[in-house]
Amino acid sequence: MSRIVYVNGEFLPEEKAKVSVFDRGFLFADGVYEVTSVLGGKLIDFGGHAKRLARSLGELEMNSPVTEDELLEIHRELVKRNNLEDGLIYLQVTRGAADRDFAYPEGVKPTLVLFTQSKPGLANSPVAEVGLKVISIPDIRWGRRDIKTVQLLYPSMGKMMAKAEGKDDAWMVEDGVVTEGTSNNAYIVKDGKIITRHLGNEILHGITRAAVLRFASEAQMHVEERSFSIEEAKAADEAFITSASAFVMPVVEIDNVPLGDGKPGSVSRRLREIYLEESRKVAL
Ligand code: PDD
Repeated sequence: MSRIVYVNGEFLPEEKAKVSVFDRGFLFADGVYEVTSVLGGKLIDFGGHAKRLARSLGELEMNSPVTEDELLEIHRELVKRNNLEDGLIYLQVTRGAADRDFAYPEGVKPTLVLFTQSKPGLANSPVAEVGLKVISIPDIRWGRRDIKTVQLLYPSMGKMMAKAEGKDDAWMVEDGVVTEGTSNNAYIVKDGKIITRHLGNEILHGITRAAVLRFASEAQMHVEERSFSIEEAKAADEAFITSASAFVMPVVEIDNVPLGDGKPGSVSRRLREIYLEESRKVAL
């Protein structure tokens, strides 16, 4: 049975779902997206993702095709129609279809697409038991990484560079400091302190990041929001990443240098547990 996807007001089998070749998402990467995880059939941090979507749209002078309540209904309907237990919901809004022109077209209806990806046992990933190995690469992306646009070619290239070296992911470095992972926020832990880059235009304001930092503070863990270099990271006791699809995932190696004893650290493991437990409690 094929997936049911949502396209501009309709729920359709994936083979029937179509978007125009003139869509600006296709021609200009003129679109934004969100990825929300689903655990036990419930949405993790829907409110956070909806809020960030509204911000991304606002920054690009794009209108939202639906209200937040309607968006929640669409997410829930997709979960239901696809019997989704554990997995992801991908959402994309583009400026819409218009004859090719660099200037934004006027009076065009935005395109809204959502689809599910089933990932049974998403929260029990065996990868969390061994941790990720990352390489560092220069961050050559554009300067508004706080807007969650669909311009993901460089992050894809970064993943391929990591894969070519037999590693899992890449951390991007700009002006001597780590910005973030290809599709996640980056953290190190030193002497019990959790260190992650402060917010700005240089990184995506992760929804998982916000929740994890809140839970860490509530658990009396010390958090420092500041830049750190790749050298500081290699000398850290442990490291981890966060994202809607990976939750909290330990990092055990950076540029061939093992961190600590080369196994997932205790702070990362504890944060993963707290994050999963607390966010399931308030899932919609
Ligand atoms: N990526 N930084 C970047 C560059 C990202 O692409 C992502 C998310 C994050 C983490 O944000 P959040 O916690 O809100 O998921 C940070 C998603 C999961 C993706 O592209 O699949």
